[in-house]
Amino acid sequence: MAQKIIIDTDPGIDDAFAILFSALHPDLDLVALTTIFGNVTADIAARNAKVLSEMVDLDIPVAKGADRPLVMEPNPVSDYVHGEQGFGDLPAKQPKGSIDERSSAQLIVDLINESPGEIVLCPIGPFTNIALALELDPSIQEKTRLVMMGGGLDRGNVTPHAEANIWNDPHAADRVFAANWDMTMVGLDVTSDIVSPPSDFEALAKAAPVLGGFLNEAAKFYARFYMSHYNIEGCQMHDPAAMVAVLYPELFTIEETAISVVPDGELVGATLRSVDPNRRLVKACVGGQDQAIKDVFLNTIKTGH
Ligand code: BDR
Ligand code: CA
Repeated sequence: MAQKIIIDTDPGIDDAFAILFSALHPDLDLVALTTIFGNVTADIAARNAKVLSEMVDLDIPVAKGADRPLVMEPNPVSDYVHGEQGFGDLPAKQPKGSIDERSSAQLIVDLINESPGEIVLCPIGPFTNIALALELDPSIQEKTRLVMMGGGLDRGNVTPHAEANIWNDPHAADRVFAANWDMTMVGLDVTSDIVSPPSDFEALAKAAPVLGGFLNEAAKFYARFYMSHYNIEGCQMHDPAAMVAVLYPELFTIEETAISVVPDGELVGATLRSVDPNRRLVKACVGGQDQAIKDVFLNTIKTGH
């Protein structure tokens, strides 16, 4: 049976990679999209997630989530990375259907309680909704597994110390790391080494003109960011790597460590190895088979399954 997942997301170009991959892969059963501010505003994230679900004819609930972090003032959205409307230079599209009436946190709690032990929760944006869901119903810690994109034991991207999803709400992220769940962190230690050059996206467009064509268009903006900021030719495949880790953990090298997040100051957003005996060990992905991880993503989009 396919693995049920909820993706909590701020789409976002690599979020779109992750969502379309999950919708197409036969071993994943995407049951809902819950959305969050981050790459774009909360309103744009909800709209874009609904549009993506309709592109693949998925009739699933899509909820709108928090529009700001738990404690601190919001950072500006990352429009220089993902474009003003979230998908590079592509213009905004309006979905046909409507957004679920529940908040992202409420939808997460409801779905996990309807299918305890059956859903993997996959946050690939800031962790505010997940912290709010824990507050609504702490029992979800025992009823779900978490595979998330964020953090880095030895790397940052928005600062030398901090990864964007953690940096956008470090207080929420720390609550998520402090909770008692089975958690896998797919962070920059592995994702920043998985780079798809423009030729990968051109091949997607050729093999799958509609979905691959859309991803190819969006990826052009993302690739320009990586070239101008890091002199890298291609896109770092952050969010799709987390989705691959749900199905193929054997492609990743794992270090087990407790983690805490620096809430403020110069190191704000850093994910640090912690020796706090009250914190459960996290499976932190510190490396992986970069080409094989990328191939799982590319082949799924190319073949539509
Ligand atoms: C993460 O931040 C966002 O910009 C991406 O969508 C990804 O989730 C990478 O640091
Ligand atoms: Ca994201």
